[in-house]
Amino acid sequence: MRFTNKVCLVTGSGSGIGRAAALRFASEEGKVLVIDRDEKGGQETVDMITQAKGTAIFSKCDVGVEQEIQASVQLALDRWGKIDVLVNDAAMMTFKKIIDLSVEEWDKVMTVNMRSVFLFCKFCIPHMNKGAIVNISSVHAFETTANVVPYASSKGAMEAFIRGVSLEYPGQIRINCVAPGAVDTPMLWNNPNVKSGAEKVEGAIGKPEELAAAICFMASDDASFVNGTTLVADGGRLDIL
Ligand SMILES: NC(=O)c1ccc[n+]([C@@H]2O[C@H](COP(=O)([O-])OP(=O)(O)OC[C@H]3O[C@@H](n4cnc5c(N)ncnc54)[C@H](O)[C@@H]3O)[C@@H](O)[C@H]2O)c1
Repeated sequence: MRFTNKVCLVTGSGSGIGRAAALRFASEEGKVLVIDRDEKGGQETVDMITQAKGTAIFSKCDVGVEQEIQASVQLALDRWGKIDVLVNDAAMMTFKKIIDLSVEEWDKVMTVNMRSVFLFCKFCIPHMNKGAIVNISSVHAFETTANVVPYASSKGAMEAFIRGVSLEYPGQIRINCVAPGAVDTPMLWNNPNVKSGAEKVEGAIGKPEELAAAICFMASDDASFVNGTTLVADGGRLDIL
């Protein structure tokens, strides 16, 4: 098993891709800290893991709040004493043109989608030895549509972030992105651009489990020579966008 006795922190694991990744880590004997601001979803993920005889605990955390991130990391350390894998998955979107966007809305997207990645890395890396960080980017980092500029910008920033951080701790951690295309989760179906057909997803909709497979590969020793790069897992969607 690739994650036996490995401590795996997964933000946004109360739903969708994060949940599928948490389940996959646990099925390969990882000890999972399920991190989400949604208590119900997070607890459901923990229940799914424990019912399958896996190991998981829930940490209620808004990744937009520094103190809550620190408390989450501390919970993992208090329980298991180390951190092996960090998956930064939680994110949000806005659906406005930029002149209609308030400063608060811009800051909120950057805080939740990008500052959280910086803070989780800052607090986790000192406790990681031969660890792996996987950040969930998006095809929107490379090709995008109108009305989602803060989201696309945050994912583009994440891409540059991992390239820089990969140079700072060689041998101690690997850090990479997985960039999903359209994936069958609430985030996809709540997107008004998808509902209206402005953003076309037909023909290339992945399952959360398919993303979990990509995430767990990047987090595992199977990817030991993969650092500072991005695995696009989009069913060929970049060719459609
Ligand atoms: N679904 C897609 O089509 C798609 C495509 C490309 C990228 N992504 C990326 O995949 C990741 C997961 O998305 P998903 O589709 O599984 O979404 P989802 O809505 O199913 O799950 C997102 C989870 O993140 C949590 N979350 C949101 N804001 C939070 C916050 N401030 N603090 C803590 N938790 C928070 C939510 O409660 C939810 O449980 C995101 O980074 C998203 O940008 C998704």
